[in-house]
Amino acid sequence: MTDTATLAGKVALVTGAGRGIGRAIAERLAACGARLVVHYGSSEEGASATADAIRQGGGEAIIHRADISRRGEVQALFAAIDAAFGRIDIVVNSAGVSGGGNLAELDEDQLEWMLGVNLRGPLFVASEAARRLGEGGRIVNLSSSLGEFPMAGSGIYSATKVAIKSFTESWAKELGKRGITVNTVIPGATAPGMMDSAPPGFRAFFEQASPFGRIGTAGEIAEVVAFLASPAASWVSGAHILANGAANT
Ligand SMILES: NC(=O)c1ccc[n+]([C@@H]2O[C@H](COP(=O)([O-])OP(=O)(O)OC[C@H]3O[C@@H](n4cnc5c(N)ncnc54)[C@H](OP(=O)(O)O)[C@@H]3O)[C@@H](O)[C@H]2O)c1
Repeated sequence: MTDTATLAGKVALVTGAGRGIGRAIAERLAACGARLVVHYGSSEEGASATADAIRQGGGEAIIHRADISRRGEVQALFAAIDAAFGRIDIVVNSAGVSGGGNLAELDEDQLEWMLGVNLRGPLFVASEAARRLGEGGRIVNLSSSLGEFPMAGSGIYSATKVAIKSFTESWAKELGKRGITVNTVIPGATAPGMMDSAPPGFRAFFEQASPFGRIGTAGEIAEVVAFLASPAASWVSGAHILANGAANT
């Protein structure tokens, strides 16, 4: 458990914070004292629920919608952050989409969608963040254990999640000169989150793949992000932290 005052005075953006892992991260950073920008794409009700939960805990939060695959919408998101808080300290790229399919039946629309949300999105967000973050700033990117252990049919998703690790390493080198850290968290199968909509049998498959006999919780991923966002992680940068209960998937 990270100290509850470690992020006092900081402003944090979590993308995709209306549900799943993003929601848990937003609530955890708020519990550490950060003021939250709860971003969402289509889950307005979920984002409002996240912000309400933060406010009920004594924190501060605004919500803002943006399709992160569109640069103009990401620029508008940051303009709203400028107007509301006048600063940004922590940026968590959690929003992401998964999908699969056979190589022989490649669907170009699905390809564009996944590249848009999983690659262009974090890039647009980080580019705006890079113009604003100061000394002590933090970027945390969410990858996936399916990048480490690709499965049949997961090729596009796995490739986007490996690519985000390259973003992390490059951005860490560029932004480290300004005292900003950039890291990756690599969750294994996690709920609430994408596992909730996985095909039947997937959950059991991932449960048996871990010696713990279960999948992870969004709260467990949020704890790792909270550490990386904290001042305690000042010397951790360009790192990829696997949080998957020692599963081999
Ligand atoms: N859960 C897992 O098992 C697992 C495992 C490994 C890695 N991960 C990674 O963890 C991250 C969070 O996943 P999750 O499990 O929380 O997924 P999730 O429950 O399916 O939520 C996906 C999130 O992405 C947002 N999003 C999707 N398309 C968007 C777009 N075009 N613009 C803006 N936001 C968009 C959604 O926002 P709206 O609902 O508002 O549209 C939603 O908040 C992802 O990067 C994922 O790859 C998850």
